[in-house]
Amino acid sequence: MKATNIRNFAIIAHIDHGKSTLADRIMSQTQTVSDRDSQAQLLDDMAVEQAHGVTVKSRTVRNFYQAGDGQEYEYNLIDTPGHVDFSYEVSKSLAASDGAILLVDATQGVQAQTVANWRLAQQNGLAILPVVNKIDSAAADVARTVAQIQALDASLATVSPLLISAKTGQGVHAVLEAIKTVFPAPTGSATAPLKALVFDSLYDPFKGIIAYVRIADGQLKSGMANQLMAAQTTLTNKEIGTFTPQMTPVQTLGVGEVGYVVTGLKDPQLLRVGDTLTSQAQPTANPFPGYQPAQAMVFAGFYPKDQAYHDLQLAIEKLALNDSSFQYQAEVSEALGPGFRCGFLGIFHLQIIRERLQDEYGLSVLTTAPNVTYRVHLKGQDAPVLVNNPINFPDFAAVDFVEEPFAKATITTPSETLGAVMQLADNHKGQLVDMANQGELVVIHYRLPFAEIAYDFFNALKSITHGYATLETRFDDYDLADVVKVEVHINYAKVDALSFVVHREDAPAMTQKLVHQLKYTVPRKLYPMPAQAVVEGKPLARVDIPPLRKNAAVNGEKRSLSKKQALLRRQSVNKRQAAYSDITLSQDVFNAILELS
Ligand code: GTP
Repeated sequence: MKATNIRNFAIIAHIDHGKSTLADRIMSQTQTVSDRDSQAQLLDDMAVEQAHGVTVKSRTVRNFYQAGDGQEYEYNLIDTPGHVDFSYEVSKSLAASDGAILLVDATQGVQAQTVANWRLAQQNGLAILPVVNKIDSAAADVARTVAQIQALDASLATVSPLLISAKTGQGVHAVLEAIKTVFPAPTGSATAPLKALVFDSLYDPFKGIIAYVRIADGQLKSGMANQLMAAQTTLTNKEIGTFTPQMTPVQTLGVGEVGYVVTGLKDPQLLRVGDTLTSQAQPTANPFPGYQPAQAMVFAGFYPKDQAYHDLQLAIEKLALNDSSFQYQAEVSEALGPGFRCGFLGIFHLQIIRERLQDEYGLSVLTTAPNVTYRVHLKGQDAPVLVNNPINFPDFAAVDFVEEPFAKATITTPSETLGAVMQLADNHKGQLVDMANQGELVVIHYRLPFAEIAYDFFNALKSITHGYATLETRFDDYDLADVVKVEVHINYAKVDALSFVVHREDAPAMTQKLVHQLKYTVPRKLYPMPAQAVVEGKPLARVDIPPLRKNAAVNGEKRSLSKKQALLRRQSVNKRQAAYSDITLSQDVFNAILELS
């Protein structure tokens, strides 16, 4: 297909506003899938995806459209993987698009995620086609929704959004016609050396690493000798193709086209999303700058529970391939053995990775309490030490001062929840930068310590706004932090994996709460064990974990007094000798720390 007749676009919407329904409708109206087959085909597709352990949501589809002007167009619908809370992930696929359909549900109007996604599309320089969905619904308020879209931005003030029902198909034809006029055709030179953007990737157990590409210049041929420029990886591709929506092999992909490359690579380290795929014989002279590798802000240890370390290692490597913002590195804990220190964009990201390990690889992992990276300045030394594992936090006596990372947070929320949101940010040491009204929503900017949003800030925000707010965070800078390391001692032995770092002012309350939780989560022994939270060498909080022992008085009712006493004696001996390694640390113990904030 010649580039002038290609359009690459994404659909951006708030959750449940009808993105999938519209995508299905576009596929059936362009006969990419027949109406009758559409249900079965998509379900099949998902079954295959599940069996192959790839993300079910990712759906990039090529459609051919016979337009009113008598010409045929190639419409590549590029899925935006999910969530604005992973704005990094969303912008990845937006980088492969030239336009975005901004889809708004007429029964709900513009929502926080509509605004956040629209802002990302704008930042990526995409042409926007606003579309109002669900006009068939009795609850639709079309006039209000149109007014809200027009109020988003001066550039949309005079635009008349298209009105559709993705469910009945009403108005969808007008969307198909508008796509070719509103969205620009890709530009690029067919005769220049091959230059393709790798905008996503996945691991297939049979085919190895599959890269999703958009061709910027030149031509990609099946069986060609390729190279990935940033990773300096060479390969001969095994197959190339398009998404119809199943992967369908083709011989060539030309300028502007979107498709996949079976790289034949098995080692996930060899490919990074954002890289440039070119030809070995004639590499392009100007590769893409590459995505700024997303900076992991939250770190936690992942340790194998029942399964082998090696299985966890393989799964983590494959996940990192599919999600370039996820980082990992091997580590060893005295209490837990070998595992991994993993880096995430935030706590929500951590939860998603845990779920994916469980769903896609059947692995459940023990997760230690998350923390941020600290810059620790030692006395008499110029360069700070970077610490992302509390175990390695230097002794307080050697520390001059500590800096912690701060985030710029953008919260978009309905105006009626403004008070509660400001209170929440305040409780988390947030400094208000500015705020602006966006119709019935407010966009607020804060500066907050990353550690404050690392725990449950996002859940709390969702809860006080009934799910209506969105949160985007970006690293701002490092700044002074008055923090201390909390060490947990159980039965007089330090348990390294339970250490964590907190703001000094929060330490007394947090450690009290912690030892109270440990009382109920640490497995009991036949003897009582003290659990202590130690800060700067001093125990700040202590609790005795009660013994798990027979009640000599009751059970020994018929026994002689001397036998009862002997039983009690046996139960209380050896308590100091018992090493904490006898204690199996369950996830509950780590959750006790997680639930502190
Ligand atoms: P997520 O993938 O969860 O973000 O949702 P989505 O945006 O893809 O929405 P989806 O297409 O799954 O639609 C959400 C719900 O809205 C479903 O129950 C659809 O049947 C319904 N829906 C979608 N379009 C229309 C429409 O035009 N009219 C009506 N009445 N319902 C619709």
